[in-house]
Amino acid sequence: MENIIIAVDGPAGAGKSTIAKIIAKRLNINYIDTGAMYRAVTLKCLQNNVDVKDENAVIEMAKKTSIDFRDNNIYLDSKIVNDEIRTLEVSKNVSDVAKIKEVRYLMVDLQREIGKNNAVILDGRDIGSYVFPNADYKFFLVATPEERGKRRYIELKEKGYDGTLEDIINDIIRRDEIDSNREFAPLVKAEGAIEIDTTGKDIDQVVDLVLQKIK
Ligand code: DC
Repeated sequence: MENIIIAVDGPAGAGKSTIAKIIAKRLNINYIDTGAMYRAVTLKCLQNNVDVKDENAVIEMAKKTSIDFRDNNIYLDSKIVNDEIRTLEVSKNVSDVAKIKEVRYLMVDLQREIGKNNAVILDGRDIGSYVFPNADYKFFLVATPEERGKRRYIELKEKGYDGTLEDIINDIIRRDEIDSNREFAPLVKAEGAIEIDTTGKDIDQVVDLVLQKIK
């Protein structure tokens, strides 16, 4: 699996990270959660009282930020932030950060750098369409907003979230809208991507479908 690049894109909660992590293990390649990078920048803005709508301030913050992946951990300025980046507050703000072109340039540079010398599976929104248009394999995972909301709800509940399912579904719909309609590198199904609808499928079924396509 020398230097293979696998792109997994799709809307929030379609199962991308769960599936990509398992595929990475099975194929013994690296896994990069690109959404976590945008989340880390968002967390840093929130921690420093930077308004995510203030594009210049966010760009300045992003330039001063170091993001690293090691041993299944994400480091923000050398500190592990695996849990801090998953709060609903970060989720609510991250699409505004991710639509800023200059922020995307910084993150995409990092993603391409990682892909240059490594066999890697990346999940995100624009991996097959923009970051690695020549990826060896491209997948586009989708599911209904209700199903995606339920999955996120179960995840967050385990971490002590006490809001409603409706809140989460609404946040997911709102995020999809911003991610799909932004000007630069929006969420789209890349040319040549294999679409998999994960609604009603369990994890093993989706993993099998993906592995069948990878020779
Ligand atoms: O996959 P996620 O929910 O962790 O992604 C967080 C946000 O980051 C999401 O709203 C869209 C954005 N994102 C992006 O614009 N491009 C990527 N490659 C990955 C995520």
